[in-house]
Amino acid sequence: TRKIIIDTDPGQDDAVAILLALASPEEIEVLGVVSVAGNVPLWRTTENARKIVELAGKTSVPVFAGCARPMRRQPVTAEHVHGETGLNGIDLPSPSVPQQAQHGVDFIIETVLAHADKEITLCTLGPLTNIAMALIKAPEIALKIREIVSMGGAYFEVGNITPAAEFNIYVDPEAAAVVLESGVPVTLLPLDVTHQVLNTHERLARIASLGNRCGTAVAALLSFSERFDLEKYGWTGAPLHDPNVIAYLLDATLYEGRHINVAIETGSALTQGMTVADFWRVTKRPANCNYIRNVDVERFYALLIERLAQLP
Ligand code: BDR
Ligand code: CA
Repeated sequence: TRKIIIDTDPGQDDAVAILLALASPEEIEVLGVVSVAGNVPLWRTTENARKIVELAGKTSVPVFAGCARPMRRQPVTAEHVHGETGLNGIDLPSPSVPQQAQHGVDFIIETVLAHADKEITLCTLGPLTNIAMALIKAPEIALKIREIVSMGGAYFEVGNITPAAEFNIYVDPEAAAVVLESGVPVTLLPLDVTHQVLNTHERLARIASLGNRCGTAVAALLSFSERFDLEKYGWTGAPLHDPNVIAYLLDATLYEGRHINVAIETGSALTQGMTVADFWRVTKRPANCNYIRNVDVERFYALLIERLAQLP
């Protein structure tokens, strides 16, 4: 099994990613879930993470609160996409899973240092603030982390929060730059991939018909996202972003990418957070990430649905 920490700003699609990980104990051991400010403010992402862990019935998985704002910019949230709570579409009870006393950044550092070299994988589903802060506070972790697998960025699909940038990178571009310049192996799952993974009515109906409480919750959450994306893109079916991070860990053969250099725009107001991906290798900048370009969508949904069926 692969030992992971999930860093997240739930968010409907974050919630589905967390459930997918918790449904896959043979391949993945979730050592902890760390919240970050992103889709909604930190107090909400923390509470949402606790609710989702509880929904999955995995109440021994600890939940930590991370950073309440980006490294140097004002917070940007996305209630217009995710609703006021971040988990609009369902109404979960107040969770009994506690928020741990330790700060999420310290949990990341301590966990990486307490394990063997290259044992811990960091999965990021939101802005990269906590990971960058951990790398700044304890740079020695860079050589010990196995891999950082992140949903973020875009090249062919360009932007979703501005014409030039994807939300997670846009919110904290300085943090993204720290991560991509850290030397830790990074795999990026950008909009180029996630815009292929669409929640069609047929796929949502398959999830709803699982009949378990987690399947019912996922169908309701994803039906809520669809409302927005239909208006925005005119697609039948909203893109499903964050679960790709977990699916990549479960079965990398679903994905196709290439090792390239990605640099983050932090200077320009117009293109803040743009992931300048040297996809055609026109510079001599060394590759710093595995940039995923394609996904086998049918096999992705088969995996997701099979795993959701394992949950309560
Ligand atoms: C990313 O932004 C958030 O709104 C989603 O949860 C996902 O992590 C997509 O750009
Ligand atoms: Ca997210």
